[in-house]
Amino acid sequence: GTDAVATNSGMAAIDTITTVLARAGDNVVASAEMYGGTSSYLAQTASRRGVELRTVDTTDPAAYAEAVDDRTAYVHVETLANPSLATPPLSAVAEVAHDNAAPLVVDNTFATPALCRPIEHGADVTWSSTTKWLHGAGTTVGGVLVDGGTFPWDHPEADYAEFDGDNPAFGFDFVDRFGERAFAEAARHRGVRPLGNAQSPFDAWQTLQGVTTLPVRMERHCRNTRVLAEHLRDHPQVAWVRYPGFEDHPTHAAAAEYLDSHDGDGFGSVVVFGLEGGYDAGVRFCESVETISFLANIGDTRSLVVHPASTTHAQLDEAAQRAAGVTPDLLRFSVGLEDPTDLIADVDRAIDRATGPTDETQPATAGGGS
Ligand SMILES: Cc1ncc(COP(=O)(O)O)c(C=O)c1O
Repeated sequence: GTDAVATNSGMAAIDTITTVLARAGDNVVASAEMYGGTSSYLAQTASRRGVELRTVDTTDPAAYAEAVDDRTAYVHVETLANPSLATPPLSAVAEVAHDNAAPLVVDNTFATPALCRPIEHGADVTWSSTTKWLHGAGTTVGGVLVDGGTFPWDHPEADYAEFDGDNPAFGFDFVDRFGERAFAEAARHRGVRPLGNAQSPFDAWQTLQGVTTLPVRMERHCRNTRVLAEHLRDHPQVAWVRYPGFEDHPTHAAAAEYLDSHDGDGFGSVVVFGLEGGYDAGVRFCESVETISFLANIGDTRSLVVHPASTTHAQLDEAAQRAAGVTPDLLRFSVGLEDPTDLIADVDRAIDRATGPTDETQPATAGGGS
């Protein structure tokens, strides 16, 4: 990209992007498979400012084309959706957006730039929660948005108030003054600085320490994840496993096309699965792990697992959970950098406890929102 702006959380990045691009009466066309916090932000917060969320089938370019119109502020997808791990057909979605004079905005949190650089596939703006893999230690909340420098904001068919001649808040034209960095500067001037969404210098410094080791960490994360996914697939008490590196994952082909292969293992560091014992076994699994932490974060150097139905999504009824891609048995496993032998031993022990004869189970306690 041409410029990047650090924000004080991932959600502050998408809020900044929306503040700059959307006004009342506009809509955002987004892949249905997306992080719950983003869908709730668009459906419950941006909507209060008159911005409509239109969700479409993540994998179907025709669905995006049908939903987009001349009031579409931007089209939004995730490179690896949380938690379904779906990869959209990025180039085809970019083409649909551009044919309608709208930019493609991509959340690259799960893939990270070590596995995917969406701007090379047609994205105009990318954003990430740096709270996850970019930082890597799970100690610092943050976000970043990157301006691809690709979108013609002053194009006659594009209708963006912030870029339409002299900006009333600043008295100059962002495109004239900043050229290919116009979006990042508008984000900085209009979305970050006046609203307090900037990342603190200490948090930015800490995050930069993490970024220096990102490619090395991602290689090991990805290798470990394939080992764990294969182990889970072979385990008799595991009902199903979803991992983009498996050919039976619905968007395996798109993941193979858009993610860097890392010798065939470059499919991210999250695997989701369900145990034969369903919901109850999922709860017990989280309470039984020892090396792995029962925690709602992702992208930490340490392995983390969460049972969304009883924790992060517990406020939703089952139908709403299913619509968000969360089945009652689903376990989300963010695979860390530990020795995979230790992880396999912990997984096997926890599965035995979760699916064996039960004593009293304690209520699940992990909270949070990742
Ligand atoms: C895919 C994705 N995007 C964005 C976010 C939001 O990031 P943050 O928690 O830094 O606000 C998350 C958080 O879990 C996420 O999983």
